[in-house]
Amino acid sequence: MQPIKMLVDFVDTRLGVRDLYNKELHGYLLPRKVNAWYTLGAVLLVLFKIQIITGILLLMFYVPDSEKAFASVQAIMNDVPYGWLFRMLHAVGANVIMIALLLHMLSVLFMSSYKGRREFTWLTGFTILNLTMGLCLTGYLLPWSQLSFWATTVATDAAGAIPVIGDYLVEFLRGGATVGNQTLGRFFALHVVGMPLILLGLIGVHLFCVKRRGISAPPFGEDYKASEPLPFFEHEKHKDGIPFFPNYFVKDAAVICFFIAFMLAIIFYAPGLFFPESAFQPADPFLTPPHIKPEWYFLWAYQTLKIFPSEIIGLGVQGAFMTFLALLPFIDRSPERRPGKRPLFITCYVLTILVFVAISVWGHYS
Ligand code: HEM
Repeated sequence: MQPIKMLVDFVDTRLGVRDLYNKELHGYLLPRKVNAWYTLGAVLLVLFKIQIITGILLLMFYVPDSEKAFASVQAIMNDVPYGWLFRMLHAVGANVIMIALLLHMLSVLFMSSYKGRREFTWLTGFTILNLTMGLCLTGYLLPWSQLSFWATTVATDAAGAIPVIGDYLVEFLRGGATVGNQTLGRFFALHVVGMPLILLGLIGVHLFCVKRRGISAPPFGEDYKASEPLPFFEHEKHKDGIPFFPNYFVKDAAVICFFIAFMLAIIFYAPGLFFPESAFQPADPFLTPPHIKPEWYFLWAYQTLKIFPSEIIGLGVQGAFMTFLALLPFIDRSPERRPGKRPLFITCYVLTILVFVAISVWGHYS
């Protein structure tokens, strides 16, 4: 143990790591009743890291050219050692990230953790959610399969319904009148550099907001009291709380392992879950496949465009809903966070989830 102690002493005298450990890890106290839903932020951090690592590995073999993209992905799957594993981790990982993001947002909503002057935390989180959907959309085109080509054609077409700028926007997104090599070029640039850079910055700001303001106490139990936030900045301390390290870290690690196991289970036991048949055929602009559907997390948007008599009404409804969600902490000002004391909110919450699931299932089978 002597060499380890010497090494720690060496680093400590230069960077003060023991002080950091005492203040930021063992001394960082979380609310005593903190539950497993609070681990989802850490799960998301790990999942994003896996996406970056597998994305870099894919970049070494992927060719962003409409003539070669499909073949390069086939080569990754069949010829590159373990290529199939990192490609599947990346593709399945995108879906698991969306699941974790939605669960994180839903738990924050259920416990009203966006309250207590956490508007910036909510807004950065909400922007992250939208940007992640953008990352998924741009990544979807890259394999240049029938699915990629036609799903992108349908998705970019929808923008055409916006009055005045619609047609211009479609051409801007595609880089031309139709989806083609130039679309692949711009989606590739956005997917591998533009969006990840913005996302990393946003995640940094989100974590800064969480840490600076302090984690909210779960709004459950006899001793929980709803209180008006003070008129000045205040860090929410939990003096009788549990240390982040090792106590809470163990919980974080357990849920992270669960998500990784879930991802591996899909890859090994249900590899086709997120890959319909059209994902295995090269893009053909002259052959429209019979059942082109967007990914499950876009089905609600896809179906709302079809429900209304005109696409512009559908887009308006989507825009109004997303704006309401983004501004929720500014609209819902009461300090009450206990779900049992907020029957109207919880009813709307459950109904909205049910409507979303129903519209998505409808979209899937329509
Ligand atoms: C890359 C995506 C994200 C990462 C890495 C992330 C990370 C985190 C972490 C580590 C925490 C503290 C622990 C916890 O409560 O889980 C947190 C809290 C929070 N997140 Fe996120 N988050 C992400 C996305 C989102 C989204 C999409 C929303 C909402 C739309 C959101 C809203 C919040 C709020 C309001 C809190 C404060 C909770 C509290 O103080 O109790 N986050 N996030």
